[in-house]
Amino acid sequence: MCSEVSDGYARRAMEYAEHLGSMAAVHPSDRQLVDTWAASIVGQVIDAGCGPGHWTHHLVQQGLSASGVDLVPDFIDRARTSYPGVPFDVGNLDAIDVADGTVGGVLSWYSLIHHEPDTIQVPLGEFARVICPGGGLLIGFFEGPKIESFDHAVVTAYHWPTDALSHELRVAGFDIVEAHTRTGLHHRPHGAVVARRADTP
Ligand SMILES: C[S@@+](CC[C@H](N)C(=O)[O-])C[C@H]1O[C@@H](n2cnc3c(N)ncnc32)[C@H](O)[C@@H]1O
Repeated sequence: MCSEVSDGYARRAMEYAEHLGSMAAVHPSDRQLVDTWAASIVGQVIDAGCGPGHWTHHLVQQGLSASGVDLVPDFIDRARTSYPGVPFDVGNLDAIDVADGTVGGVLSWYSLIHHEPDTIQVPLGEFARVICPGGGLLIGFFEGPKIESFDHAVVTAYHWPTDALSHELRVAGFDIVEAHTRTGLHHRPHGAVVARRADTP
């Protein structure tokens, strides 16, 4: 699946960046949620699956020590050009190149949407491994009444019920802090879960 995701986004990286790769394209309530979450984070933040890097840059502008990681080299090249001085690296969320317990928070904004449901514990386990006890995780995703695939413009993606994703987060070692959903006429239902790394695995 990784190569399908990587190839799919590589083909459409510029198009994605032009349409969705800026804070101007972000829903105001998402921005507020991320800003509120970010204000609670102590230490390094990883923007996991950063795409064109606008969230990473935004977090840096909020005063955080943030870096972006993404599977797609075209995104990372573009992010480095757009936001010089902000650290970006090519990497896989299934094997994050960071030591255990050294990160204060992970933002995973729509970056796990392409994971097949029976593989979701792999990146969640990596988030749990790198985040220090008490550290924060914020996940944005496509909400839905059941776990179900759909033809996303880039490559197959999945809807998740908030309860089902919250269960997976608990299994991975997180406590759920809060959850948000939003529906709208022209958008797929949106979900976001704020979670906290449990003190003991
Ligand atoms: C829908 S885009 C979201 C990008 C960005 N977070 C945003 O909000 O615009 C999904 C991103 O996740 C990245 N991604 C998906 N699976 C990944 C993986 N296993 N490792 C690293 N990045 C991944 C994709 O390359 C893509 O940039």
